[in-house]
Amino acid sequence: MARIVGGLTTSHIPAIGNAVPREKELVNDPYWKPFFAAYPPARAWLEKVKPDVAVVIYNDHGLNFFLDKMPTFAIGAAAEYKNADEGWGIPTTPPFKGDPELSWHIIESLVHDEFDVTTCQEMLVDHGFTVPMSLFWKNNTYGNVRTVPVCINTVQHPLPSPLRCFKLGQAIGRAIESYPKDLKVVVLGTGGMSHQLDGERAGFINKKFDLMCLDKIVNEPEVLTRYSIHELVREAGAQGAEFILWLAMRGALSGKVTKILSNYHIAVSNTATGLLVLENAA
Ligand code: DHB
Ligand code: FE
Repeated sequence: MARIVGGLTTSHIPAIGNAVPREKELVNDPYWKPFFAAYPPARAWLEKVKPDVAVVIYNDHGLNFFLDKMPTFAIGAAAEYKNADEGWGIPTTPPFKGDPELSWHIIESLVHDEFDVTTCQEMLVDHGFTVPMSLFWKNNTYGNVRTVPVCINTVQHPLPSPLRCFKLGQAIGRAIESYPKDLKVVVLGTGGMSHQLDGERAGFINKKFDLMCLDKIVNEPEVLTRYSIHELVREAGAQGAEFILWLAMRGALSGKVTKILSNYHIAVSNTATGLLVLENAA
């Protein structure tokens, strides 16, 4: 049977996508050091567990979906996912392998579980997906890891609530664990932590709230599911609402997890960066 071995979260700021190819030199740069120094143990954990598949819960920022058609939940069911120029000036990444059979199994299970997802047999993946993959698999060595992109709308209101996203994660967890093939699966939740890129509060960061989230998501995620989406926007910023992607990741894990590592750093670009690696209970 397929097994979820753990969950990882990381911010997906485009500036990181630009910095990743120069990590060797930037790891000694005062601006980047506190960020990049946190990643080698996360990569070492991945090298140890050797996942076959990464289910990547992320948000599209306008590359694949635009405001005219905005699904709340969308899932890839393609053999390959390409990246393309988004206009951020970041290098386009090599394509990602899909796993259509696993994707369709998850889709069947989710629809049965009353999550009526948009199914995408063609899907471009943007920085919300590519930056974390390039960060966790150095030099884009993610080639052997098959992926299932799960896209949640964090761009155009109404956004799904933290509780709804947690429940989606739980349904994804049930779907993966009922897949008959022997696969090791990791679940990624990308984006966050607090940030707001536009409007009167542009530049807004809330360290106290972020640190509370980093703590509670490990063993008491239900505390975080009590926030409404508007309360989350108030506390974390308009784009900090991306934290719902972390909650979906957490929902996919069993109740019991072990924290392998976490990191918090203000700021890269306009964003408080967060990193978390959780090992799932056997
Ligand atoms: C930034 C952060 C994001 O989450 C994003 O999607 C784009 C830009 C930033 O801080 O620059
Ligand atoms: Fe983002």
